[in-house]
Amino acid sequence: MNKLLAPSIMAGDWWNIGEQIEACIRGGADLIHFDVMDGHFVPNITVGPEILACIRRRVKIPIDAHLMIENPDRYIPSFVEAGANLISVHIENVVHIHRTLNFIKELSAKAGVVLNPGTPLSAIEEALYYADYVLLMSVNPGFSGQSFIERSLDRLVLLKEMRDRINPKCLIEIDGGIKEDNIVSAIKAGADIVVVGSGIFYEKDVEEQTRRLKHLICAAEAV
Ligand code: DX5
Ligand code: ZN
Repeated sequence: MNKLLAPSIMAGDWWNIGEQIEACIRGGADLIHFDVMDGHFVPNITVGPEILACIRRRVKIPIDAHLMIENPDRYIPSFVEAGANLISVHIENVVHIHRTLNFIKELSAKAGVVLNPGTPLSAIEEALYYADYVLLMSVNPGFSGQSFIERSLDRLVLLKEMRDRINPKCLIEIDGGIKEDNIVSAIKAGADIVVVGSGIFYEKDVEEQTRRLKHLICAAEAV
């Protein structure tokens, strides 16, 4: 399967966000990663469904909404209505994960389960049977521009083993601290979708940087 690149626009320049999104699409972005933070589940606040809808009206590629909020069930319909194609929720704050993932699927979006760096992989083992994707956090969620937690590579390898055994169709996404120097290792360790925030948007030429990272992941999977 083709490996997918998902620029995290949270790291972008919001004065010029439309231009930057267009630049990363020209550079080969496969998805737009849209981080939603409420200042409760994580210590930061970002954007909501209205902004997602605004992007949806101009952009054709899928939008991947990563919900870092309390009570995500309450907001899932608004994000689907706004045009999110993939929606992920954190295992740490969803009590009835089977219900929540099915709810997302019934609304015709792809359903993902996310785990924080401190959460054991076993916490999402059961959800693997019915999730469309698992998002492994490689930083503690809340901010762009943090350093990759190296242990995440071992966790990716273990997660891939579990995924191959339980539900080979389920994709693995990695998010946090991915840059030019570790993106290939993340693909080799088992990631199918790679989220990159500062590794794209803190660079001068967003389009060129996206293209460079896309080439790296395409070359890595050919090995
Ligand atoms: C962090 C977010 C990430 C973040 C990634 O909580 O979920 O998507 O924007 O940014 P970088 O790639 O800079 O770590
Ligand atoms: Zn994210």
